[in-house]
Amino acid sequence: MSHHDERTFVMVKPDGVQRGLIGEVVSRLEGRGLKLVGAKFMRIDQDLAEEHYGEHADKPFFEDLVGFITAAPVFAMVWEGADATRQVRRMMGATDPAEAQPGTIRGDLGLDLGQNVIHGSDHEDEGANEREIALFFDDEELVNWDQSTEGWVY
Ligand code: TYD
Ligand code: MG
Repeated sequence: MSHHDERTFVMVKPDGVQRGLIGEVVSRLEGRGLKLVGAKFMRIDQDLAEEHYGEHADKPFFEDLVGFITAAPVFAMVWEGADATRQVRRMMGATDPAEAQPGTIRGDLGLDLGQNVIHGSDHEDEGANEREIALFFDDEELVNWDQSTEGWVY
């Protein structure tokens, strides 16, 4: 990991999994040159959901949000690259798909404010990326590898 690179937490939410959009989301992030360093298909339980979305605990939509994120499996990932947290947020688009620009993941694929396909750590929330990675992944689940073609074995 070069010194300006960082890691960010991303997941395809239950609506994206149910609609078969895991590959599309992974493909867009790969295509942008980000490097996948961890991934797992999993079900989020009540405790993890409440912790992950803890910043929203006092919001009127919290109960629905926790219900939604626990309702079906998610595809949780860690991506690495220069300014990765902010870059992923730009590719995601605005929270509400109705406001998200065409060309963004939510702008192209999102259905509504709840069912907006993807989560990515908030670059405006200092350290959110590292906190969320630690919440979902153990260190040994993250893979250090060189994305360059040097060292390929044919
Ligand atoms: P938030 O952290 O504000 O958005 P983002 O996912 O872009 O970081 O909210 C978390 C999720 O909560 C959001 O993706 C969808 C849901 N949500 C609602 O259902 N209603 C709302 O009014 C808001 C703001 C969010
Ligand atoms: Mg957020």
